[in-house]
Amino acid sequence: MKIAWGITGAGHFLCESFEIFKKLKETAANLKVTAFVSRAGEEVLRMYGLADELCRISPGSYLEECFFEREQGASIPKAGRFLLQKYDALIISPATSNTTAKIAYGIADTIVTNAVAQAVKGGVPVFIVPVDIAGTIESKMPFFIDREICMRCEICPPAENCPNRAITDQIDLLKCIGCGLCVRLCSYGAIRGGLARLKVRDADAKNVRILRELEGITVLDNPQGISGIVAKSMQKLKY
Ligand SMILES: Cc1cc2nc3c(=O)[nH]c(=O)nc-3n(C[C@H](O)[C@H](O)[C@H](O)COP(=O)(O)O)c2cc1C
Repeated sequence: MKIAWGITGAGHFLCESFEIFKKLKETAANLKVTAFVSRAGEEVLRMYGLADELCRISPGSYLEECFFEREQGASIPKAGRFLLQKYDALIISPATSNTTAKIAYGIADTIVTNAVAQAVKGGVPVFIVPVDIAGTIESKMPFFIDREICMRCEICPPAENCPNRAITDQIDLLKCIGCGLCVRLCSYGAIRGGLARLKVRDADAKNVRILRELEGITVLDNPQGISGIVAKSMQKLKY
């Protein structure tokens, strides 16, 4: 089975999405996954230390490539694969509120939103896991320095040893690769991740409702729903 996986810049559901795809790759024989990664997606997955994981899921051979929006032209020619029927399904997980809004209103100006547009036009089933569905959510955060705890040591082992020189008096998340070395090196426990509680905006919840009504698109309430979809499609397609 050949799946296209759209990754956007959401921290919420990101690790869970990777876990699901990792497990699928381990258990489903003949599963090929091509990753279509938005600009923000590329940055955020690096912050959460998932760049190497992505290379293991989509190692680079034909139909197992990683396509990064940063490297694609504005017209996203790789999205043409959906019109050529190269994939059995397109799964967007996680989908930011930004990407969800764009899809809801027919905008196709990023690698992920354009993939959705071409997939629907090509009759390829699309499954989307939006992050902001309703109520309140708890999201895993990237690493940060807790200033209440930081002792401002003259020699700061996390800063000295950061492989990407991402630490000064704060962590530059655009340089951070989420390796967690700094967390282990700070004797005071001043660097950590953690959870943030967020309220879902009415506008974002409304966009998810719009998505549920769109042709060719199925909304999944969490990444765990992906395994069932893949198993069902494999049965139907007799893989
Ligand atoms: C660490 C981090 C985590 C983020 N998590 C989320 C999130 O969970 N949901 C969301 O809608 N946006 C989140 N964002 C903001 C998006 O990355 C931003 O809106 C971006 O423009 C989305 O672009 P895309 O939809 O093309 O991927 C996060 C940004 C950062 C830096």
